[in-house]
Amino acid sequence: MLYNWKYIHKFNYIVVKLGISILFVGLAFRLFYGQSTGFSQVLKTPSVENTHTSPPHVDSLSSDEIPPPQGKCNLFIGDWIPKKIGPIYTNESCSFIPEYQNCMKNGRQDTGYLYWRWNPRGCELPQLDPKRFLGLMRNRSWAFIGDSISQNQVNSLLCILSTVDKAVEVYHDEGYKSRRWVFPSYNVSLSVIWSPFLAEAHIFGDSNGVLTSEIELHLDKLDMNWTKLYKSLDYVVFSSGLWFDRSSIYYEKNTVLGCNYCPKRNLTELGFDFAYRKVLRNVFDYIVASHHKGTIFYRTTTPNHVENGLSNSGKMCNRTEPAREGEVQLPVMNKIFRKIELEEFQKASTRASENGINLKLFDVTPLSLLRIDGHPGPYRFFQPFAEDKNPKIIGDCLHWCLPGPIDSWSDLLMEMVISG
Ligand SMILES: *[C@@H]1O[C@H](CO)[C@@H](O)[C@H](O)[C@H]1NC(C)=O
Ligand SMILES: *[C@@H]1O[C@H](CO)[C@@H](O)[C@H](O)[C@H]1NC(C)=O
Ligand SMILES: *[C@@H]1O[C@H](CO)[C@@H](O)[C@H](O)[C@H]1NC(C)=O
Ligand SMILES: *[C@@H]1O[C@H](CO)[C@@H](O)[C@H](O)[C@H]1NC(C)=O
Ligand SMILES: *[C@@H]1O[C@H](CO)[C@@H](O)[C@H](O)[C@H]1NC(C)=O
Ligand SMILES: *[C@@H]1O[C@H](CO)[C@@H](O)[C@H](O)[C@H]1NC(C)=O
Repeated sequence: MLYNWKYIHKFNYIVVKLGISILFVGLAFRLFYGQSTGFSQVLKTPSVENTHTSPPHVDSLSSDEIPPPQGKCNLFIGDWIPKKIGPIYTNESCSFIPEYQNCMKNGRQDTGYLYWRWNPRGCELPQLDPKRFLGLMRNRSWAFIGDSISQNQVNSLLCILSTVDKAVEVYHDEGYKSRRWVFPSYNVSLSVIWSPFLAEAHIFGDSNGVLTSEIELHLDKLDMNWTKLYKSLDYVVFSSGLWFDRSSIYYEKNTVLGCNYCPKRNLTELGFDFAYRKVLRNVFDYIVASHHKGTIFYRTTTPNHVENGLSNSGKMCNRTEPAREGEVQLPVMNKIFRKIELEEFQKASTRASENGINLKLFDVTPLSLLRIDGHPGPYRFFQPFAEDKNPKIIGDCLHWCLPGPIDSWSDLLMEMVISG
């Protein structure tokens, strides 16, 4: 099926703006070094009465299609339930929070979104214990490979683990997009590898981060920025998707095959779903054939919660509590990504176990869909309402505030690692 660019244009807009700007704010990270460190403050607990449940059987969302190994509970089917104790780090104690995800500093007043934990039905999910985690991971390396959501999770993990052993940066590329840190007392390495397509891509932007030409995407070539490191990594978390809906020209064997949204060119519109499927298939083929002895995760798509529309931008995703079951629909774009991810993962999964590859689905989509309260929204910017009650800004309803719901993604990863 071909998905037309027109109909996803709104979605595209946000992702393009955010995605690209994040390319260029890398430098801003630097400013956050050397700030005060200390331990978490306990924030005030808001009163919450309701349990917010995830829909167990919404067709496009169900994780049931991929059953967990026998006797184990499915960690991804559960509910967000209130918790009394807030995050183990704050905007004051952690120096790894980029400005555009530092919701507290930027003026977000409500803190209720910090007091929920994910509770799988049928088993306990403990909060990640940084000391235990680092102890178990001694001499091991972790890497998150993907786009700015991978960076978002790495920042969250850096904040959590640095409460025990402060991470030291040992590598960054020119644009601060790919980086590596070490937790010195444990010799644990944590990397983020910028590879928004996982395949080889040439992206052309100007100094403001505006794309100046179509992306050139080589569907048949994996991005060497990660393949060259892959063998050296013990735990790898892949993800992709969001960049695929942008204007791109697709290549195979260095020959133009077609494009996604290129109305000015005389090329076949192949649709981004075609490209995403093709690239994912290559990624999984590579993993399956890799003889890798570690653990490989594929993280599913994370929702873009643009709720109140662009015209109401200052009020975008301004909720203060998780959504209730069935209340929020997965955006069409995410549905397309998810369908491809589940289908391709499932095909690869059988082959992986035949080859002794430890490949797991890190299925954050359903639980993240409910956390419409966890995005920066207008607080992507510093004090957005200071001068204007209705500022003309585009909020961020895709990335997550730090601290915020993305912290629980690491609880889940830890549990998946421990329970094998
Ligand atoms: C943390 O957030 C508070 C508001 O909750 C703000 O006053 C403070 O400046 C922020 N500190 C840092 C280091 O971001
Ligand atoms: C970590 O590596 C060091 C140096 O190679 C070694 O002495 C130590 O036993 C290793 N520890 C673990 C838990 O693998
Ligand atoms: C740190 O871990 C790496 C493996 O990831 C190992 O090669 C190295 O020897 C370790 N270094 C120390 C000082 O333990
Ligand atoms: C690898 O990363 C570099 C720098 O970040 C980038 O210029 C290059 O296009 C990437 N390579 C591929 C194959 O995508
Ligand atoms: C577009 O491409 C087709 C097939 O390659 C060709 O027949 C046609 O003349 C081209 N049209 C233009 C406007 O270049
Ligand atoms: C969120 O925005 C909507 C739409 O503008 C508004 O009606 C609502 O009061 C806002 N909610 C909060 C908690 O600010």
